[in-house]
Amino acid sequence: MRQYSLAPIAGYTDLPLRRQCRRYGLHFAHTALIDAGALVHGNRENDFILARGQDEPYLAVQLLGSRLDDLRQAAEMLDSRDFESVDFNMGCPVRKILKRGAGAALMQTPEQACECLKIVRDAIRHKPLTVKTRILDESDPEPTVRFCQMLEACGIDGMTIHGRLPEKFYSGPVAVGIIKVVRENLKIPVTANGGIFSKADADALALATGCDRLMVARGALGNPWIFRELLQGQPAPPSHEEILEAVGSHVNEMVEFYGEQSGMILSRKLIQSYLCGRGYRHSLRAQATYLATVADFRAFLRDLAASPPVPEFVNALTLK
Ligand SMILES: Cc1cc2nc3c(=O)[nH]c(=O)nc-3n(C[C@H](O)[C@H](O)[C@H](O)COP(=O)(O)O)c2cc1C
Repeated sequence: MRQYSLAPIAGYTDLPLRRQCRRYGLHFAHTALIDAGALVHGNRENDFILARGQDEPYLAVQLLGSRLDDLRQAAEMLDSRDFESVDFNMGCPVRKILKRGAGAALMQTPEQACECLKIVRDAIRHKPLTVKTRILDESDPEPTVRFCQMLEACGIDGMTIHGRLPEKFYSGPVAVGIIKVVRENLKIPVTANGGIFSKADADALALATGCDRLMVARGALGNPWIFRELLQGQPAPPSHEEILEAVGSHVNEMVEFYGEQSGMILSRKLIQSYLCGRGYRHSLRAQATYLATVADFRAFLRDLAASPPVPEFVNALTLK
């Protein structure tokens, strides 16, 4: 049975975005990563990352860090909170994270990776613990298999493999063959991640890796309808009216969640993600980058309602 999840995406997978995706069938979702140190020492942003809707059926929280004390305390805190599972980040390629020896840096320091994971495993007593990592080599499966088997031996319950090297960030092909060999060599379930932007992409990833657990990241940004497509099995592009409604409800919820000032600033990139590649006038997208108040947004929404995508673009999409 195919199972789709929404990836942890820093700066995006907050409650408002998850709610949009859940309207179209998303069940398994992740928070964005939360830094162990920030959690232990207190940080206002944590509340936004950890906020869970009462209507959310399944939510995993993702933990990042490499300092053992912080990890233990943070994991204990998360163990007592309302999440179905905890995921440990061993794939983040951002320089400031690597400098601290966390995220993808742990792939280069397997002993430290194991030490961190064992501390977290000991602290997470009531929930499944998973790891999300990347590949270590694009052509030889052996280093990734060895690393993942070592993590498995630390007592985790599942693993997600993003089939790209850390230095590739999010671009280039996904090394599906490596994910396949990792899956064949582990006893725990393996989730495949990378490059799902349509049902056809998901089918190709499932076929090539043998994984029936698939994780979607960028394919859901500005496109909560991807879960409708994945679950119904056929492309179901949103209409202009659906886009209008989603932008309206998503931004309203952002304002309710973050307050007007932050909510509107964060909504600018969201609106871009909804309009990008869908044939909307460039001037509308430019207008979205200046929105500062709810009143600005209402005016923008009126302009958007009156400006459906250019017909040639819609025809070109239909013909594809
Ligand atoms: C802006 C951005 C933020 C991300 N934040 C996280 C994160 O917090 N934790 C994580 O494990 N991966 C993070 N990722 C990686 C995604 O979860 C995913 O592994 C990657 O984008 C590949 O999937 P895709 O090709 O479907 O986008 C992030 C990716 C992007 C583009």
